[in-house]
Amino acid sequence: MKKNKQIKTTEDAIKLLNIALEHEWAVTLEYTIHAYSMPKGKFFYEDPIMKNKTDARAQTIQIGIDEMYHSLQLGIIITQMGGIPSFKTDEVIRYPRIIDNLRRDKETEDMVTQLYQSADFKEGAFPKIQNMILNISYDEVRHSKQFDAMMEAMKKEGVEDALCFQPDSENRDKEEVKLLHEITHAENELMHRYLKYVLLFSEHQDLSQRLFKNAIDHMRHWDKNSGILIKMGDVIQVENAKKDADGVEKSRSPMPSLYAGEDRRSALETLIPAEEVLLAKYEKLISLVPDGEIKDQLQLHFSLNREHLFTQEWLLKNLQKIKGLK
Ligand SMILES: [Fe+2]
Ligand SMILES: [Fe+2]
Ligand SMILES: [Fe+2]
Repeated sequence: MKKNKQIKTTEDAIKLLNIALEHEWAVTLEYTIHAYSMPKGKFFYEDPIMKNKTDARAQTIQIGIDEMYHSLQLGIIITQMGGIPSFKTDEVIRYPRIIDNLRRDKETEDMVTQLYQSADFKEGAFPKIQNMILNISYDEVRHSKQFDAMMEAMKKEGVEDALCFQPDSENRDKEEVKLLHEITHAENELMHRYLKYVLLFSEHQDLSQRLFKNAIDHMRHWDKNSGILIKMGDVIQVENAKKDADGVEKSRSPMPSLYAGEDRRSALETLIPAEEVLLAKYEKLISLVPDGEIKDQLQLHFSLNREHLFTQEWLLKNLQKIKGLK
């Protein structure tokens, strides 16, 4: 992460905000991936802020959600200032040991806290942005303390060597597992695509709120599908990652950095076929899975995506009814 210390012009501010945004996108993914690589209800710690015994995995997911809200806050401000929000991301890494992921997460928090708190704003130039950055930085301070407490608890319990889920390569070759990976990728891609349009239309609050609801649904599906992958004997992938000899996976492109659609019409037009493709994949997967909890969960995602398709078709038709609306 580069540092940008002199914030005098709008251009300087947009540059800082986009550096921050690329970081926030990466950690949203990274923390969720780290969380879904560890077992549920196994590693508890005493949370230093909430003063409560907490599941490290569940809290790591919560922190990932905080990061998504940071992305949203930054992206909206960048758009309002006339900039273009970046969808590039910093590097995402997954280590084989759980504690090494938590250590990386804590170090990332400390680094970004430093970036936010050391940004040197020209006095009176961007007071609201300065305030926003400081507010975000204290979420990062909290996250750092929480990750630190998770690591300390693991050390105390003598489970420093506990590993992330190690998938059996046989499972990865199963048709339903392959399909679920494709679906999970599509859910993640659609979440970010909807978020792009939320940022793009942030001044049209009616449209941006509808699109935001769909982005959240896709995020929930991505999250639930990651849990289903574990039940199927596999684990969520780090997209486009290379694994080194020590089993460390690194990716510079853990999510697409470009999404089609630059105005109301072109954005809405791209969503309908994307939802249709996703629906077809769910339909196929549902037909392959036996009756039970997994099938019921997939059916829920399928139904909600049908709702999205209905909404998107009408958003587009309604746009076409009004002359001159761009
Ligand atoms: Fe953040
Ligand atoms: Fe954070
Ligand atoms: Fe959808």
